[in-house]
Amino acid sequence: MDLEELKKKALDAIKEAKDELDLTNIRNRFLSKKSEINQKLGGLKDLNEAERKTYGQAINEARGAITNAFNKKFQDLKAYNLNLKLKREKIDITLPGASHHLLGTNPIYLVENEIIHIFLGMGYSVYEGSDVETDHFNFELMNIPQDHPAREMQDTFYINNSLLLRTHTSPAQAHAMAEAHGGPVRIICPGKCFRRDDDDLIHSHQFKQIEGLLIDKKINLGNLEKTLETFVKKLFGEKREIRMRSSYFPFTEPSVEVDVSCDKCGGKGCPVCKGSGYLEILGAGIVNPRVLELNGYDPNEYSGFAFGIGLERVAILKYGVDDIRRFYTNDIRFLNEFKRR
Ligand code: DAH
Repeated sequence: MDLEELKKKALDAIKEAKDELDLTNIRNRFLSKKSEINQKLGGLKDLNEAERKTYGQAINEARGAITNAFNKKFQDLKAYNLNLKLKREKIDITLPGASHHLLGTNPIYLVENEIIHIFLGMGYSVYEGSDVETDHFNFELMNIPQDHPAREMQDTFYINNSLLLRTHTSPAQAHAMAEAHGGPVRIICPGKCFRRDDDDLIHSHQFKQIEGLLIDKKINLGNLEKTLETFVKKLFGEKREIRMRSSYFPFTEPSVEVDVSCDKCGGKGCPVCKGSGYLEILGAGIVNPRVLELNGYDPNEYSGFAFGIGLERVAILKYGVDDIRRFYTNDIRFLNEFKRR
C-alpha cells in the first residue's frame, strides 16, 4: 500500500476507534514491528541514498503522525471512560438515605447490664461460666448428688451421661472456688440456663440468671440481707423493701427466697402482687458447709453467701412485661419500646 494511503487508513481507523480493543488492533496493525509501515522501513536498504533519505523521512513523518494520533486518541478514550464512570456513579446526596432499623436493646440485656454494674460497684467481678456443664459441676459440687430429689426438678437437656446444658448458673460457684484455691471469692456470673419446664407466661425452657457468691471469714445472713437490700434499692428504687422467707436449696443452709415490695401498692396488697404486697425475685442463702467442703474449703475458717437472680423475672417486674415469650420472639414493636432506655 502506498504510504499516504496507509497513513490515511491508520488515521481514519484511529478516529473511528471506540474502545481499548479497537486501539489494540490498530497498534498491532499500524505500529507494531511487523506492521506494513515498519516493513517499508526495512525496504529502504534497497533504495539509493537520495531516495532513501526522502522516503525515510516520509515514513518517519507518517509513523510520527500515526503515533501522535494514536496517543491522543488513547488519552481521549481514557478521559471519556473516566467521565462516563463518574457520571454513572454519581451520588445524589439529596436523595433520602437507606434507613437502618436501630432497635431498642432487649430488656433482658438492659437489666443484665444494670445488675452487673450494681455488683461491680460493690466490688464483685464477673465470672464467665459456660452453657455446657458436666454433671459433676452442675449437680455434685452443688451438693445435689445422684438420686437427690432436686435433680428431678431440674432434669434436663443431657448431651451424654455426664454432659448437659447447665440448669442454673450455680456451677460457676464451684469453678470460682476452684480458681480461688481456698481463698476469698466475690463474683457474679450472668448466663443462660436450660431446663425442662412449662412454657407459659412466666416460664421458658431457656432463661437467664445471675449467680452471686461471696466467700470470706465470718460471713453471715445479715451480710447477705444488707447486700441484697442495697442491690434491690439500686435496681428498683429507694422506696422498695425486701423480705426474706425461709426456703430450701441443697447448696445453701439456711436458704431464703427474697421478695421485693410491690411497686403498685407499696406492700399493702393489690392484684399485681396477688394481695401479698411482695413479688419474688431471687433465691439465696448461706453457703452450705457441705458445699464449702466439696469445693476444698474449711467451713470452720470460711463462710459465705450465695444468690441466684432470675433475669426474666426481674425484667418482667421492672418493665411490666406481660409474657416471658416477648423477650425471645424479636417483635420489633416490643423492642422499640426500649429504644430510649
Ligand atoms: N440455682 C438456683 C435455681 O436455679 C437459684 C439459686 C438459689 C442460686 C439460691 C443460689 C442460691 O446461689 O443461693 O433455682
